[in-house]
Amino acid sequence: MNLDNYIRKHIKNIPFYEGVDPSIKLAEESGILPEDIIKLNANENPFGKTLALGENLSSINIHEYPDPNQKLLRKSLSKYTGKKIDQLVAGSGSDELIDILIRIFLDQGDKLIDAQPTFGMYEFFAKIQGANVVSVPRDENFNLDLESILNQIDKSTKMIFLASPNNPTGNLASLKEIKTLLESELIVVVDETYFEFANKSYSGLIDDYENLVILRSFSKWAGLAGLRIGYAISNPKLIQRMLLIKQPYNINSAAEQVAILAMNKKKNLLTKVEILIEQKELIFEFLKNKKGLKAYPSSANFILCDFGQYDSNDVFNQLAQKGIFVRKFSNQLISNCLRISSGTPDQTGKLLQVLDNIIS
Ligand SMILES: Cc1ncc(COP(=O)(O)O)c(C=O)c1O
Repeated sequence: MNLDNYIRKHIKNIPFYEGVDPSIKLAEESGILPEDIIKLNANENPFGKTLALGENLSSINIHEYPDPNQKLLRKSLSKYTGKKIDQLVAGSGSDELIDILIRIFLDQGDKLIDAQPTFGMYEFFAKIQGANVVSVPRDENFNLDLESILNQIDKSTKMIFLASPNNPTGNLASLKEIKTLLESELIVVVDETYFEFANKSYSGLIDDYENLVILRSFSKWAGLAGLRIGYAISNPKLIQRMLLIKQPYNINSAAEQVAILAMNKKKNLLTKVEILIEQKELIFEFLKNKKGLKAYPSSANFILCDFGQYDSNDVFNQLAQKGIFVRKFSNQLISNCLRISSGTPDQTGKLLQVLDNIIS
């Protein structure tokens, strides 16, 4: 039997998504002790670990399936977001919600638009669905090229995905841009995974536009990337459809419990978000003042920097030798860029010291 003859043709051609390695693996490969690894490559939040989980986790009924309707979780989300319960659904990370939306709206051959450089999962899931992805390049400062986007819309175009703040560039979409796209009657997904760092949301538009979906995550502001939990805000009709087609038990009991705990402790966690924003500004100022580099202002918890006359691969390797791991890209639009996530003040201190020696 030849398995290849059975695998659907379009599935064979999908480039795999390059996720980041966990710190244990980075330590193993670099020979550096796990506690000395400074992991600034996935926009994670080192402060998530500070939630006191012991008692909360041991009280979970792990022998029971979690609630398919996510009642308690959605109630908490409603309090946290100010939206109604029927306007909210949770997913296993915002990643799962991207997948669910694409499966709801895209047939094979339908078109999805994204604005490159951006988060890779929109393209990844669309291709698995057999849809076509039209990637419209952003301008030189990575703002949207609205005219080119509008020019790409035709009968087969169903969805547009915009991250605001955008990963990896850090910039926000404007109200005018979002409204223009909403008026074009596509399904507009605004991915606000970094919302708590930017404090700017378009969720206020959901009562006016049935074609708007907002995505959020607990991976970044709450530091729960390992538990996989995010949520969507949209109109009740679409939320109901998402609830109907999601895996019944998509949110595991631990994720549900800890996300509720995080929302109850939001004051504490948002103080940590403030610290991460300060660290991001320190990294930005440092890079901005180095001759020949171009650092892009960011409303998220990371900075993208073009290393100009320096070879970013070389900078990446020199940082890695000191146990500092940042993100590099194969995307041609940002091939000499690195993206650096903000970490604790200690981590930023070490990062800037090492960078100062590399870029003198
Ligand atoms: C823009 C954007 N959307 C979605 C995600 C995925 O988030 P989650 O961990 O909630 O799946 C990320 C993660 O880096 C991201 O940068």
